[in-house]
Amino acid sequence: MQVLVLNGANLDVLSRRDPKMYGGLSLNELESRIYGWAHSLDITARCRQTNSEGEFIEWIHDAYDNVDAVIVNAGAWSHYSWAIRDALELLEVPLVEVHLSDIENREEWRRFSVVADVASHRVLGKGPDGYREALEYLAGKVDQ
Ligand code: DQA
Repeated sequence: MQVLVLNGANLDVLSRRDPKMYGGLSLNELESRIYGWAHSLDITARCRQTNSEGEFIEWIHDAYDNVDAVIVNAGAWSHYSWAIRDALELLEVPLVEVHLSDIENREEWRRFSVVADVASHRVLGKGPDGYREALEYLAGKVDQ
């Protein structure tokens, strides 16, 4: 199973962001964990991050015919980018939305996600382990 893991705006500077909120790892460390978890679940993962919304959308388009599932943490775009939502909506494969922090219990503006109703599964507020749960869900190891 080929899984694309997309991290969006400001996730490249994860190690500088509030460790209580975001878990304290660098993006590199997070991606290494994701590759390790994927390997143990027999999943081939590819992690990508960008701060460019257009590039993020292009990567979603590339996923249409090329991967078996997508895991997405669109960062702040999650709260307002209808363009990203329109792109995600066309995926015919499972989509898991991950947020390191619990966006439903933070500032009002973070509570809404454009991704929520096009995702097959959501993992909020579990820190880096949220990506493991996303992979386990895709491997059929979480109650669907
Ligand atoms: C985030 C939550 C967003 O509100 C924020 O803008 C981020 C990270 C998370 O993983 O908790 O950049 O998506």
